[in-house]
Amino acid sequence: MTSLYAQRRARLAARLGAGGIAIIPTAPERPRNRDSDYPYRHDSYFYYLTGFAEPGACLVLDSEGRSTLFCLPKELEREIWDGYRLGPEAAVATLAVDAALPGTQLDAELPRLLENRRRVWFPFATHEGLAARVEGWLSAVRARARYGVLCPAEQADACLLLDEMRLVKDAHELDVMRRAADISARAHVRAMQRSSRMLRAGQDVREYHLDAELLAAFREEGSQFPAYSSIVAAGANACVLHYRADAAPVRAGELVLIDAGCELDGYASDITRTFPADGRFSGPQRALYELVLASQKAAIAATRAGARFNDPHDATVAVLAQGLLDLQLLDSNQVGSAQDVVDSRAYFPFYMHRTSHWLGMDVHDCGSYVEPGEASEASPRRDPLSGELIAHRPSRILRPGMVLTIEPGLYVRAAPGVPEAFHGIGIRIEDDAVVTEGGCELITRGVPVEADEIEALMR
Ligand code: GLY
Ligand code: MN
Ligand code: MN
Repeated sequence: MTSLYAQRRARLAARLGAGGIAIIPTAPERPRNRDSDYPYRHDSYFYYLTGFAEPGACLVLDSEGRSTLFCLPKELEREIWDGYRLGPEAAVATLAVDAALPGTQLDAELPRLLENRRRVWFPFATHEGLAARVEGWLSAVRARARYGVLCPAEQADACLLLDEMRLVKDAHELDVMRRAADISARAHVRAMQRSSRMLRAGQDVREYHLDAELLAAFREEGSQFPAYSSIVAAGANACVLHYRADAAPVRAGELVLIDAGCELDGYASDITRTFPADGRFSGPQRALYELVLASQKAAIAATRAGARFNDPHDATVAVLAQGLLDLQLLDSNQVGSAQDVVDSRAYFPFYMHRTSHWLGMDVHDCGSYVEPGEASEASPRRDPLSGELIAHRPSRILRPGMVLTIEPGLYVRAAPGVPEAFHGIGIRIEDDAVVTEGGCELITRGVPVEADEIEALMR
């Protein structure tokens, strides 16, 4: 495993340019209140390069490939309270770095490491106060100029390099992501079954019962925490995009939207399913559900190496536009043809988010959505709804090993002209897709999406 991280460091070192040096800190611990901290989560860039999950650490890497790790020193008193620390002595062998020092020496050592380097890389706008600390270290280097020491003249954003590396997942990452996806899929199945089981037993089902089932399923299979706050939305709550699991009653005859995924060993999964609370879709619910599912199938068919990031979204919108007309959620006398609906974005009141985002260590993972070689080809377009001028750039060309979500939805709020049968229905179907040469691999289909299959597993 160590060699994996050493290989990644070597790849980064090769991109730093002659005389380059990179400073990559991990995340700080964050207080929740008084003596309690939020559960600790390492920084993703740092973990990508070290596999080291302790707080209080920082990696320094130069273009010759020499790595220095700063980490918490061994300290019996603190370890009695907070737990085991690897410590610098063991870190060299365990993490295969060239040198390791206690974090207390960071301010003393950094100026020395920066001496005579040409360019210093660090993640911009990611760690509060880091840029100011770098300035401090640089001024300490400059103070020694009279001794012939050269000070780096350039600062560069390490995210530019690391985002590109993280965007294409390696075999180890895909393996972890498949396992995270499997755990999350089983959790969704459990939550669906819990809902219908409790309703059949005549119990008072609340959103938090289903949230508890998800959390139990994640933890029982070794996931460290949810990759994001679970959304468990009963009935019309599903129309609130960032709703959280709360205490609303889960009622027979209504839909439940669950958007939840676990994080496993630093990697996220992200699944949404929408199901009837008691296991039986009504006619209007099924009609909308089948439309969202058809739009997802179109998006999946458009996802393959060589296609553009925007292609699945465009495929989704084309299907939704036609379906909104067919179901009379939109009136063709007012909005015209399906193509008109797409061009004018008349679908927007029902579908107001994008179909995909990158997925990886972070649920909304890093990586440019614009094809880097074409970033200068901006064509200004006026947004048909806001009237704002938007610089449209060619979207990313998909490559094998990129991972994205495919998550179309429809959210129908009560409004004049909208058929009442659809009021308060919110549906999203979200799967995680690994781009392959000829298409994509859906890693989250351990939980079904077909309406009949969902009804069957809830019986
Ligand atoms: N759960 C966050 C998202 O679907 O993007
Ligand atoms: Mn998502
Ligand atoms: Mn999601």
